[in-house]
Amino acid sequence: MGAKAKSKGEDAMTTWNLQGTVSHLLICGGSSCRKRKGEEVAEAIEREIEKQGAEALIHTTETRCNGRCSDACIVIAYPDGVWYREMTPKAGKALVRKLLQGERLDEHVLYTYDGKLTAADERGTKGKKK
Ligand code: FES
Repeated sequence: MGAKAKSKGEDAMTTWNLQGTVSHLLICGGSSCRKRKGEEVAEAIEREIEKQGAEALIHTTETRCNGRCSDACIVIAYPDGVWYREMTPKAGKALVRKLLQGERLDEHVLYTYDGKLTAADERGTKGKKK
């Protein structure tokens, strides 16, 4: 039994026992992220989770747009609250390995969370005001 990102048309009635999950990856499936290999990122993450035998530890969910299209493809790690930008299939694999070591994929961090989101650099401060 493994955790999988949902793709279009997949059965929406799946019920996993998620006890023991240590990381939940929210993989953006919005149109901008899909244009930037979002599906390939999701597949690479899934393959690496399987390869590492980490299906019970890392759960994934495909989301709609997360509001940072210019940083596509976006992946958010819960409960860390870390947002990752410009994710590629290669970066997705590296992220899984880093998470299993209790680390971050530093070179792709867009926001960190410590009670509120904080931009890792100038880039995360750009955008329309909400
Ligand atoms: S489509 Fe992914 S952030 Fe907008």
